[in-house]
Amino acid sequence: MEDLVSLCKRRGFIFQSGEIYGGMQGMYDYGPLGVELKNNLKHAWWSAMIYENDNIEGLDASILSNPTVLKHSGHEDTFSDPMVDCRACNGRWRSDLIDDSKCPGCGSTDLTEPRPFNLMFKTAVGPIDDGASFAYLRPETAQQIFTNFKNVVDSSSKSLPFGIAQIGKAFRNEITPRNFIFRVREFEQMELEFFVVPGTDDEWHNSWVQKRLDWWVQQGVPMESIELYEVPDDELAHYSKRTVDVMYKFPHGLEELEGIANRTDFDLGSHTKNQDELDISAKVMENKSSNTRLAIQDIETKKWVVPYVIEPSAGVDRGILAIMNEAYNIEQLEGGKERTVLKLKPHLSPIKAAVIPLKKNNDDLVRLASDLKSTLQKLNLGRVVLENTGNIGKGYRRHDEIGTPLCITIDFDSLEDMTATVRDRDTMEQKRIKIDLLPEYLIKVVNG
Ligand code: GAP
Repeated sequence: MEDLVSLCKRRGFIFQSGEIYGGMQGMYDYGPLGVELKNNLKHAWWSAMIYENDNIEGLDASILSNPTVLKHSGHEDTFSDPMVDCRACNGRWRSDLIDDSKCPGCGSTDLTEPRPFNLMFKTAVGPIDDGASFAYLRPETAQQIFTNFKNVVDSSSKSLPFGIAQIGKAFRNEITPRNFIFRVREFEQMELEFFVVPGTDDEWHNSWVQKRLDWWVQQGVPMESIELYEVPDDELAHYSKRTVDVMYKFPHGLEELEGIANRTDFDLGSHTKNQDELDISAKVMENKSSNTRLAIQDIETKKWVVPYVIEPSAGVDRGILAIMNEAYNIEQLEGGKERTVLKLKPHLSPIKAAVIPLKKNNDDLVRLASDLKSTLQKLNLGRVVLENTGNIGKGYRRHDEIGTPLCITIDFDSLEDMTATVRDRDTMEQKRIKIDLLPEYLIKVVNG
């Protein structure tokens, strides 16, 4: 993990947030390359969900959440982790993550009994901070999908089964954030709420588990590094009938990358008005505040049905960590040398191609390289850079380390025959290709 963290900082993927003032625990900033990688991963998820499925719609809802939403979702009462205090050093810890009942800070066994600690962040809303007017920073993106259920159904004429997907920030006041970007206080989720006819939920659940595994493999996380975890009944979240966790072999151990839950009719049943007129199977809190019926009318029977929900919920940051961990390679080269190479899937690479003029002070070479950069950039495959440092070897090393699939060198022969040397990141093979053919070549490399 240390080598990966060091590469992330050195090359501009991920920085500790507020580092110049000593940093803040559980918060990270994505640098110039990190933001590209993250956007590419989110785009891959968005395409797989929304563009490839006509029955899934997107949403981008507010982060600040009305407390009533999180009261009826059950988060106010149950969204907590067990916390203990160490009487010797005043450290606070998640009791379920402590080994041997010993304080991880000082080793003392003088700990308090565990007590629930609610993980939601609160913030004042409006100019008067009297404690009465506040909002929560959402702890998951899911809830605004449920509260917008009728808006989306009415505006997009959906019938079951269909989904609503969202990518966005979520916040949790983790007691012990740790392991780099694995457990943080501010992170991003990619969540789909897929609404189905009750009774078809088990089948849909299994099918989403398989689809999500296939997707992770396409992102460069192989099945050998994944295990499925059938969450036992006593560990299930308050809303879940069954949850299957996609566990990944992170550098620090096997841990959750994504959870795929059958949330039953709990959420729509919790947020709907007229609960007693609907056939809700989950145990829900009485709701006298909602002004909207969250159900779908069966066209034939005219009966109102509260759909069941299958929820694949993935962490963007954990995805980045898994993908970078898989891609990170140190290779031994001939002559005792070694190279660090990030073998990212090209569609995720922060930079798709680097165009390198052989000499930085030669106007003709730089002009041709710069024209090629513009042509390739216009393909809209992602970022293409002009690497005008005049040091080819250094350029190759840098682009291997940041996962650029192709380096394209413009030399003096290029001016004569309009060809360029194209170097493949993974094989290090170099071949001459006509400059005219490079757009097509890059499209093939990036899109597979
Ligand atoms: N809506 C369901 C839900 O939020 P979850 O298992 O609590 O379920 C889903 O979270 C995913 O969000 C996890 O699988 C993980 O990838 C990510 N996640 C959760 N807490 C996180 C944290 N503190 N830091 C980074 N990622 C987190």
